[in-house]
Amino acid sequence: MIVDKDFTISDIDERIYGSFIEHLGRAVYGGLYEPDHPQADESGFRKDVMELVENLQVPIVRYPGGNMVSAYNWEDGVGPKSERPRRLELAWSTIETNQVGTNEFAEWAKKVNSEVMMAVNLGTRGIDAARNLLEYCNHPGGTFYSDLRKKHGYDQPHNIKTWCLGNEMDGPWQLGGKTAEEYGRLAYETAKAMKIVDPSIELVSCGSSHAKMPTFPQWEATTLEHTYEFADYISLHQYYGNHDNDTANYLAKSLDMDNFIQSVISTCDYIKAKTRSKKTINLSFDEWNVWFHSTDADKKLEPWQVAPPQLEDVYNFEDALLVGNMLHSMIKHSDRVKIACMAQLVNVIAPIMTENGGKVWKQTIYYPYYYTSVYGRGKALKPIIHSPKYDSAEFTDVPYLDSSIVYNEAKEELVVFATNRHLENTLLVECDIRSFEEFELLEHVVLENDDPKAVNTRDQENVKPHHNGESYTDNGILQGVLPRMSWNMIRLRKKKTQ
Ligand code: AHR
Repeated sequence: MIVDKDFTISDIDERIYGSFIEHLGRAVYGGLYEPDHPQADESGFRKDVMELVENLQVPIVRYPGGNMVSAYNWEDGVGPKSERPRRLELAWSTIETNQVGTNEFAEWAKKVNSEVMMAVNLGTRGIDAARNLLEYCNHPGGTFYSDLRKKHGYDQPHNIKTWCLGNEMDGPWQLGGKTAEEYGRLAYETAKAMKIVDPSIELVSCGSSHAKMPTFPQWEATTLEHTYEFADYISLHQYYGNHDNDTANYLAKSLDMDNFIQSVISTCDYIKAKTRSKKTINLSFDEWNVWFHSTDADKKLEPWQVAPPQLEDVYNFEDALLVGNMLHSMIKHSDRVKIACMAQLVNVIAPIMTENGGKVWKQTIYYPYYYTSVYGRGKALKPIIHSPKYDSAEFTDVPYLDSSIVYNEAKEELVVFATNRHLENTLLVECDIRSFEEFELLEHVVLENDDPKAVNTRDQENVKPHHNGESYTDNGILQGVLPRMSWNMIRLRKKKTQ
């Protein structure tokens, strides 16, 4: 590998380490909020969960959905809790008690040092509900909705900066799903009204639900032609699974993510040219993760329960490796991907799991997310990688070495994130870092396991990193030993002169 200070991709927008909380399963009730839990604070939020979220340094959390937002009445979730309606939640066939809503979530986000990224309902509702919610959240006072917020006990506006214009509106499963033309028109008119209410907000236009949608990427092209003037970002969503139990192929799926991102960038830039715009639309990868382990269990759940255990994927070691690779992909595209949300944060396809009334623990995927979020801040550098390659069921020329590089100028730290996809062999990485004079090794963290299917449970953490990675620097060369099937973080810092 060659890593040079001058091979800059971009300053990384820290919001690429965002996450997502939907009113779905036990994400909110039993996850964030459990007033009867011994660890609950005065507002009913679990302090043990907040601590793990804070450790992850999650800069932004998308809310309240997801599919759920497309039939959500935000008014149900504000005001006195005793008067809030219990509703049939149609996206996931549950009962929503509305004991947590906009204000409580904004309060929770503040407690974990995060920002809210709010989605509006463009499924069953539209311009009116969206502009009223924005007035309720961001207008200082003296109007109907801002005064209603004050009456509800929140004197200061929440000042929510980033707003999603609906969710997965191309999906046939979406309540109030739309054609590209229908969505484009509605999103444009909603965006126009919202930017009048608060011109300082940023808007995310809805992209395809995933790269395999039959309408991708025409959906992006058609909808952006409508929304280009007001949108700042377009959304991408993608989940992967090891459906065929083929680890080599599974670990290569981040190549599909690279390709997806590249295709969306091309489509945005085509519409930029077509509309003669000077503005560049950036990408909000606001749902990404592994999701497939829980699919069968979910089919067996009885409908109309309050907070049932939905989408509770138990992640294994190989899932953590793929998550690490997906994070490389975000960093490598940080010139255009400015927001990304791991979906989701607690219990529902999540790095953090809880037991109602009991413990909290870290899933395997917590670790690559944690290290990349905490140490992946600064400038993304483009590594030149010469790696042996392999072919898998879906991909050709898959490099065994996948890597992303972050240079934190303020801290004088160089961080090499690296995955060895080889199922049997160690990779010896020789990295030319001559432009980083006097940099010395701080730590080499390794996530490895002999069993790709190893999982963490409430009582046993089988997959966790160790700090005994073998690396050293000599004369402008970093030598690193990447064990077979491993995710690594090698952190270097400029020698302190006495
Ligand atoms: O994150 C789970 C679901 O996945 C979301 O509700 C939806 O937007 C996506 O299909």
